[in-house]
Amino acid sequence: MPSPLKGLFVGALTTMAQTAVTAYPESDAAPTSRVAQPVVIGHRGASGYRPEHTLASYELAARMGADFIEPDLVSTADGVLVARHEPEIGGTTDVAEHPEFADRRTTKTIDGIVCEGWFTEDFTLAELRTLRARERIADVRQENTIYDGRYAVPTFDEILALRAALSAELGREIGVYPETKHPGYFTSIGRPLEPGLVAALDRAGLNEPGAPVFVQSFETANLRALRGQLHVGLIQLLDAVCGPADLASAGDPRRGVDLITPEGLADIATYADGIGPDKDMVITRDTDGVLSAPTALVADAHAAGLLVHPYTFRNENRFLPAQFRSAGGDAEYGDAFAEYEAFLRAGIDGLFADNPDTAVAARAALFEPVR
Ligand code: G3P
Ligand code: CA
Repeated sequence: MPSPLKGLFVGALTTMAQTAVTAYPESDAAPTSRVAQPVVIGHRGASGYRPEHTLASYELAARMGADFIEPDLVSTADGVLVARHEPEIGGTTDVAEHPEFADRRTTKTIDGIVCEGWFTEDFTLAELRTLRARERIADVRQENTIYDGRYAVPTFDEILALRAALSAELGREIGVYPETKHPGYFTSIGRPLEPGLVAALDRAGLNEPGAPVFVQSFETANLRALRGQLHVGLIQLLDAVCGPADLASAGDPRRGVDLITPEGLADIATYADGIGPDKDMVITRDTDGVLSAPTALVADAHAAGLLVHPYTFRNENRFLPAQFRSAGGDAEYGDAFAEYEAFLRAGIDGLFADNPDTAVAARAALFEPVR
């Protein structure tokens, strides 16, 4: 299938990205006139302010100016796609406080990692709906914990409906950027994610060239297969340390860093429209955690015709490069704007942000609004 990036919306993004690449100088001088700007992806919604992967988190991200909202997708026992970062839900819901589900606690091996807890594929949607979301990293995001217990685990269909309603209300297209989580694992247990993903996008009228959609995966095989079923943008996620699980299970030891050679990027370009690398692959950090020099990744990816959307940008000291941390502890905010500026100047085409308002403000400081 030819690249779908010829439609109005995503096609416009491609043009923006190419403009950004050519117009953004490698100097200290901020551009004074821009016709394009990188996209802001609300990572798990606005997860810096609300428990991740809740409708409240996605809604806030859109209202803060995010161009896309990002649900991670897993399956229930009855094959419904819901938004959780991983199948295990002990860390992001109150399931441990439900005695009726105590016997569902179990140990599984997923992509070679042993996990203990409760898993979405062992719950029907009706059962999952009796749970409530809670903040994952309460030690860093204490403010978010006041929202614990207020929100359900949303289905992908609900997220798409919210996206449509917010697009109408806000007068701009809010994009959706779903990630298939552990797709090989879900296929292996008879709950493949892809049929439901394609069907949901079809139902929402979003499986069309130019629709405001990117589909992402850390695995390669399902993206290659989806190329023949989806008419939207596809993004190959890349981990700096690990390799795609489907390659590993096939005996292929390549890691993310092994896939970003010019040859590797050219291969990715045969089935995907962009890459979503760990941000450390775009600008490295030294052994002290100090942000150092940009790598060749942005230029190499652009030479292969690929967009570059690195993850994940967060305001708290715990996640910032060492030179941008403030004097406080892990939970204190540091100079997130300095980190954004470094990456925006590196020529990226978009980024995943837990604090979409900060990302939008950082972008506005460097780019003219799109006309
Ligand atoms: O999908 C981009 C980024 O979200 C990948 O990391 O683990 O937060 O899903 P993760
Ligand atoms: Ca994700």
